[in-house]
Amino acid sequence: MSAALAGRRAFVSGASGGIGAATARALAAEGARVALAARDRPALDALARELGDAVVTECDVREAGAVDAAVGRAVAALGGLDLVVTAAGLGRFGDTASFSVEDWDAVLDVDLRGTFLVVRATLLHVRKAKGHLILLSSVAAVRAFPGAAAYCAAKAGVRAFAQVVAEENRRLGVRVTNMVVGSVDSPFWDRAGGTELAREKMLQPDDVARAIVQAASQPAGVSVDEIVLMPPEGIL
Ligand SMILES: NC(=O)c1ccc[n+]([C@@H]2O[C@H](COP(=O)([O-])OP(=O)(O)OC[C@H]3O[C@@H](n4cnc5c(N)ncnc54)[C@H](OP(=O)(O)O)[C@@H]3O)[C@@H](O)[C@H]2O)c1
Repeated sequence: MSAALAGRRAFVSGASGGIGAATARALAAEGARVALAARDRPALDALARELGDAVVTECDVREAGAVDAAVGRAVAALGGLDLVVTAAGLGRFGDTASFSVEDWDAVLDVDLRGTFLVVRATLLHVRKAKGHLILLSSVAAVRAFPGAAAYCAAKAGVRAFAQVVAEENRRLGVRVTNMVVGSVDSPFWDRAGGTELAREKMLQPDDVARAIVQAASQPAGVSVDEIVLMPPEGIL
């Protein structure tokens, strides 16, 4: 077991599947105690049973009050928060001329507003612990993909937000890592409709989880500000 994460108290949003669930497993395997947040309660309960010592704290990241309550439950159960991973997200894709306002709002509300709400609700606890925030952005933050206006805008927003939060909190002892990640073979693509994509060439959720554990395991004198993690063939 890595001494670096032993006893670390972590809050993971998007923990019911994909990258968030893989991250929760990886953090727990390295000795962290993990609070699992998402909407799918049965999936969170199943993961908590698997991990043995996890806290289930269901919430919709679009709802400020629900996020505040979920973080409150996590803090009450764990006694504080050293590490927060924001992995709740979704993608909706299509040409801008016919893109619906509902789809635009869905992407921005979960990916950008949801990230803000989780960071806002956890930040004072993370400051108190001189802890670490790890935010899931995307390669879509730094590359323009036709058909992905909402997703690129949301993820560029997450990256800019992560950079501001990093600068606001550096001197308070808080580290912030922005994750620029290429395609990952997760339920994301079943939901977003990515049938034409080469799923077998994508990263696996465990690959992202491993990078998150590595960033979280650095000594206190090291800040991993950004990680760019891509499939070997790059943009798929
Ligand atoms: N897959 C990729 O290729 C890829 C690449 C780069 C970055 N990312 C980013 O990485 C993050 C994780 O993606 P993933 O691949 O793991 O996707 P995923 O498998 O679809 O998982 C998404 C997670 O977000 C949660 N979620 C969605 N809407 C939510 C809401 N309103 N409130 C609370 N939780 C919500 C889902 O849980 P519930 O449905 O239970 O709420 C689920 O746990 C996302 O931010 C995504 O944009 C993904």
